[in-house]
Amino acid sequence: MAENIHPIFDRLLTRAEREQRLGQNSKVIWLTGLSGSGKSTIAQQLEQLLFSEGYFAQVLDGDNIRMGISNNLGFSVEDREENIRRIAEVAKLYVHSGVITLASFISPTRAIREMAKNIIGPEDFVEIYINAPLEVCEQRDVKGLYAKARRGEIKGFTGIDSPYEAPENPALEIRTAEMSLEDSTRSIYDYLKTQISL
Ligand code: PPS
Repeated sequence: MAENIHPIFDRLLTRAEREQRLGQNSKVIWLTGLSGSGKSTIAQQLEQLLFSEGYFAQVLDGDNIRMGISNNLGFSVEDREENIRRIAEVAKLYVHSGVITLASFISPTRAIREMAKNIIGPEDFVEIYINAPLEVCEQRDVKGLYAKARRGEIKGFTGIDSPYEAPENPALEIRTAEMSLEDSTRSIYDYLKTQISL
């Protein structure tokens, strides 16, 4: 299928030049965790903090992506895999344009996150585990989805009747049941500044 496709890899304008213009090293910051763990809220706060500190970052988020490029996908294992494959390809485009990309997706299995890492490139992929116990996420139930899942109105809900595999060796783990939103955001920011040298 790809025999007549000729992608351009070496452009006149390089990633390094874009990064230099933006004054940053671009990476994909991949936030994984259960629904309600705090991924999206942290990603948005982090985006704002990075912006206020002079960086250029962009959030890619589950619900928004699923309204657009993944609007034909559900939550079966295959559909989640295709969803993350598309997102990883988009994140790769962003990161090559010099943007710090904050990807906030459940991305429930190690295999799915490994695929994302390989598409993006291991050197550009920073995995952060947004960890909150299922009981806490269920108690928060911001969108009322856990209650629906418990009533059987949603099938295959992550953590209820669909698996979530915690990362084995994330770059960073944030326990949102024990930390404020501000502290969670700040500790990711500090980590990125000191360990990743954005
Ligand atoms: S995945 O598994 O990475 O493809 O999921 P993602 O794209 O991050 O989408 C998660 C959001 O979809 C809503 N939702 C569900 N989540 C999990 N399981 C099921 N069955 C489901 N159905 C709908 C839910 O609002 C998730 O949003 P977050 O922000 O994670 O709470």
